[in-house]
Amino acid sequence: MKINIMLGVSSAAAQIEGGGFVHTWSGWYEKGRIHDGSNPARANDHLNRWKEDIDLMAQMGITIYRLSVEWARLEPAKGRFDKEAVMWYRRLLEYMKSKGISPLLTLHHFTNPLWFEESGGFAEPANIPVFLDFVEFAVRQFGDLVNEYVTINEPNVFAVMGYHTGVFPPGKKSVIAAMKVQSVMACCHIQAYSLIHRLRKEMGYADTKAGFAHHARVFVPKNGRNIRHRICACVSSWMFQDALTSACLLGKFAFPLKNYSKAPRGQYADFLGLNYYTRSTVTSLADGVREGCARNDLGWEIYPEGIETSARGLYRLLERPVYITENGTCDNNDSFRCRYIYDHLKILENSVLPVERYYHWCFTDNFEWCEGESARFGLVHVDFDTQKRTIKKSGDFYRAIIKNKNVTEEMYNEYVNAQKYNVQ
Ligand code: BGC
Repeated sequence: MKINIMLGVSSAAAQIEGGGFVHTWSGWYEKGRIHDGSNPARANDHLNRWKEDIDLMAQMGITIYRLSVEWARLEPAKGRFDKEAVMWYRRLLEYMKSKGISPLLTLHHFTNPLWFEESGGFAEPANIPVFLDFVEFAVRQFGDLVNEYVTINEPNVFAVMGYHTGVFPPGKKSVIAAMKVQSVMACCHIQAYSLIHRLRKEMGYADTKAGFAHHARVFVPKNGRNIRHRICACVSSWMFQDALTSACLLGKFAFPLKNYSKAPRGQYADFLGLNYYTRSTVTSLADGVREGCARNDLGWEIYPEGIETSARGLYRLLERPVYITENGTCDNNDSFRCRYIYDHLKILENSVLPVERYYHWCFTDNFEWCEGESARFGLVHVDFDTQKRTIKKSGDFYRAIIKNKNVTEEMYNEYVNAQKYNVQ
């Protein structure tokens, strides 16, 4: 199978850096909300081992890397920016570039500085300019090194997990609040998109690309003949992802979203960023997994076809190149990740959509939010006690695909053929 899509890897600051930075997830750890009790202050110690990690990436032939900056590190108090943190990221970005690795930089990936959270965070429309000030700062500091940006990672997951199910900070349980947060984040994205373009233009650059990373999945009724199941599938899809898609991509805010910043309709993405993991089989307005399907180690259905269906949903609204900004799986023993990668790439390669890039989630095992260190998504194994990195079999497979731009029959037999998903 020939591979024309560019293959890279993805990560997020709070999940790999470690260090004692005060953000919402340090607070969440202190409240005992991480299932295995692990502390994001440890994570992968990427803060000290960044060079080793980039060297490993280069060794694997990786040339594109989606990473994020930690807002709480860069702006530890409102309006007070930290020069050391800026220099750390600049050194990292410069080093990546010297190794031939291009950054796609995410400006917000789930964590907020505590001072921002305390002032209402993204539940407060008056905070939209506060986020934009940070975006402006980041682009002024890194704009000479970075031309491609993801404004916000998964506003829907952030909103639903933090404000509806309450498993992410701040742990609220209100659908109304979750929809308000989605609205505020959509406004932030739209304005950040325009701001990034304006600032880089002023800096003399014409090659800027910006978008957001949308978490989309397929919602299907458990029983297609059951009208309640069908309605719940449609409503869930609308509330969780579709209303947000059109707000962020086009500035079209339909019920239940609200355009707090009165941004005009437009086209607010240069690429369609898609984070794809699973499908939901529903009987109510809650998530569900059907019985007897292939599942990963967190119980999520493995449904490769959904990556194309989800991308098509975005492309229907705005015809832009598709970047799979995240796709990967929790496979603690690395026993089916090669098959997972192969199956998803096959669907993407056969698609008529302009899929240009695929960033595997994740480069290394890392701090997986509520699951802590217990859920492994990496191509590279991390022993969290010793911080030793070891390329997994799936990492070898990925390296071989990048090198050959192909999955040959030999590679298929070596890496994929014997692997099976767990069916439950
Ligand atoms: C998030 C990542 C996370 C991954 C696996 C995505 O929703 O953007 O931060 O680690 O899923 O759960």
